[in-house]
Amino acid sequence: MAFLPRDARFAPAVARQHPAHIIILSRRLGFHTTQKLVETARRLGHSVRVLDPIHCLLHVVQGKPAVFYRGHRITKADVVIPRIGVSITDFGLAIVSQFEAMGIPVLNRAHAIACSRNKLHCLQLLAGSGIATPASVMVKNLGDLDKAVALVGGLPVIIKTLQGSQGIGVMLAESRAVARAILETMVVLNQPVIVQEYICNGHGADIRAIVVGGRVIAAMQRVAEKDDFRANVHRGGNGQSFTLSAEDRRLALAAVKTVGLDVAGVDILTSQHKSMVLEINSSPGIKAIAATTPTDIATAIIDTALSLVRRRPDRSTGEEMNIY
Ligand SMILES: Nc1ncnc2c1ncn2[C@@H]1O[C@H](COP(=O)(O)OP(=O)(O)O)[C@@H](O)[C@H]1O
Ligand SMILES: [Mg+2]
Repeated sequence: MAFLPRDARFAPAVARQHPAHIIILSRRLGFHTTQKLVETARRLGHSVRVLDPIHCLLHVVQGKPAVFYRGHRITKADVVIPRIGVSITDFGLAIVSQFEAMGIPVLNRAHAIACSRNKLHCLQLLAGSGIATPASVMVKNLGDLDKAVALVGGLPVIIKTLQGSQGIGVMLAESRAVARAILETMVVLNQPVIVQEYICNGHGADIRAIVVGGRVIAAMQRVAEKDDFRANVHRGGNGQSFTLSAEDRRLALAAVKTVGLDVAGVDILTSQHKSMVLEINSSPGIKAIAATTPTDIATAIIDTALSLVRRRPDRSTGEEMNIY
């Protein structure tokens, strides 16, 4: 079976009875996913505020940690939904941690976001948990190139930076000369890279699975644009509806559980009937995948956020904020 209709699984009845104050951390209200989350939360009767991380001030003090936004203390927050882009990972994580220190539930904890952000660290965790991943080697030294290429099964190889996104920083080296030139450049730029087994499935396709609250709620296949090997939608990849096999579903769930995220986009590569997890994204975009599935992903995310509120023992629904 593909996906259950959303009403069967994300019944928002409780959410409607108890309006919550939801905070979304996002650089811009204009981002499609942010906008969708805001609209959905309001439609369900909740108040929602988007905070641009760069205007947040963190007051780190014993006993009474606080977040100020544009000079004003945040006094109403029942749950925080971080949408932290790679450009502000460190500061964004600090803000998420601050809300955690204040006792506010967050949808994706800072530690889990940090684990997924570093591709090497993420692969180490996944491989260590017995989850299939492409053979990968971290290289910092030009002299190690040949060894690294041999360890991942020979040319061609993928070379990628540890913290790229949207396909940026992911390169295909078909010859030793190209691999060497890339590695030389990265060494000079002081950028550690992963040399990775190139998983060729003939048509540059991967799978993006969306996992929310411990369930795979949607999946799409992305097919790379002609003349590219990267299937990212931002690189021209074309999203198509896709039904995950039971095995891939288990793989995606196990990967997300290992990293500890509440909401995640899992990239899976399949070749010769074997699937591997490529990476896990803590702030997956929902625009492209929404066009391929009837599942209401934004509602699933908001409902999962609200379920964290409901689980809080000190939940109050009054005007005053419930953190102090
Ligand atoms: N080892 C690999 N073999 C084949 N294709 C790959 C490999 N690694 C990445 N790709 C392609 O490049 C895309 C981007 O890689 P990914 O590691 O997910 O980085 P990003 O964070 O930029 O999305 C993938 O979606 C896939 O299409
Ligand atoms: Mg990716």
